[in-house]
Amino acid sequence: MALTVGVIGGGQLARMMIPAAVALGIDLRVLAEQPGMSAALASVGVGDYRDLQTVIDFAETVDVVTFDHEHVPQEILRELMSRGIPVHPGPDALLYAQDKLLMRARLTELGLPVPDWASVENADELGAFLADHGGRAVVKTARGGYDGKGVRVVSHQHEADDWFAALAEDANGGALLVEELVQFRRELAQVVARRPSGEIALWPVVETVQRGGVCAEVIAPAPHSAGRLADVAADIAIAVAEGIGVTGVLAVELFETTDDRLLVNELAMRPHNSGHWSIDGSATSQFEQHLRAVLDLPLGATGVRDAWSVMVNVFGGPADGTMGDRYPEAFAEHPSVKVHNYGKESRPGRKVGHVTAGGDDLDTVVYQARATAAFLQD
Ligand SMILES: Nc1ncnc2c1ncn2[C@@H]1O[C@H](COP(=O)(O)OP(=O)(O)OP(=O)(O)O)[C@@H](O)[C@H]1O
Ligand SMILES: [Mg+2]
Repeated sequence: MALTVGVIGGGQLARMMIPAAVALGIDLRVLAEQPGMSAALASVGVGDYRDLQTVIDFAETVDVVTFDHEHVPQEILRELMSRGIPVHPGPDALLYAQDKLLMRARLTELGLPVPDWASVENADELGAFLADHGGRAVVKTARGGYDGKGVRVVSHQHEADDWFAALAEDANGGALLVEELVQFRRELAQVVARRPSGEIALWPVVETVQRGGVCAEVIAPAPHSAGRLADVAADIAIAVAEGIGVTGVLAVELFETTDDRLLVNELAMRPHNSGHWSIDGSATSQFEQHLRAVLDLPLGATGVRDAWSVMVNVFGGPADGTMGDRYPEAFAEHPSVKVHNYGKESRPGRKVGHVTAGGDDLDTVVYQARATAAFLQD
């Protein structure tokens, strides 16, 4: 049985795989970008994931390669595959988490519901899309965006000139993704896991709240989602996982529109912020499930432990110290809330941790999670 998992990227997602690996006796090895990152508790090597030899040397020490982020170049992943090293998710699937234009095209091909979109190469093409969509749209860079960086609401064709200019400098050329400004009631996420052999497990669809383009809070399950909404979200996520051949954990970000449709926003092929609640709120956390899935082991049960779980991110950390300095008050006030600290230095706006509260009364759970997060960040 192959039980050494290599994770490329040393951020908090790799860090949160560690407790699950310890419990199962899985040897987790991490290729981190820098020393002292969040995953430094595991066996960590430091190296550049864009360097072929570095990644090969790392991959040769593990049974399967997986990821904390989506940025490892395709050529490198394909070279690992050609050497017989299992990579999950594989490059053919990961492509659609790396490039939002390819993702939109593939989802359209699969007949899945997405916002109206186009690939645009210059301001005139953007202008034409704006003219067709009531004068407002969302422009996105196809690659490299995260936490709302690379996403811009525009109402004039010249508002993306800097991005067009940057693409013109790029030897590979390229285009921007433009899409309709979706009128949504709220944002949801459906997290699933899929094994190479095909088994799929789903957690309940959750509601996600973004502030400034960044996930701030998650409510599991999404309020008023039982029935049709949950079924549609599940069907979409299964169609994506199977249609694209995703292995490991997949998060499908969704818009619930004001006219009651679900549209796919984007895909993440790794544990995702919208699934952090599962560490404390589900029989199997997304991190354990990801390890099971990439090792092609039977998936764990995904039932909820509490009627409601609410996750609130901790941003920045106290200006005059660390999250840990606030533990005495936070723990004393909210003994049932679970705190997750990513071991990062405080910096304004940075995700340095999250908290999860659970219980029967949603208002109480929301209050407890928010109050605890507030203690830890200021
Ligand atoms: N077409 C759209 N219409 C309306 N709002 C949108 C649209 N696309 C994105 N947004 C808003 O911007 C946020 C960030 O967009 P998106 O998820 O594409 O970017 P990202 O930077 O890759 O995100 P992440 O933080 O998940 O990495 C979305 O969660 C949503 O709130
Ligand atoms: Mg997103």
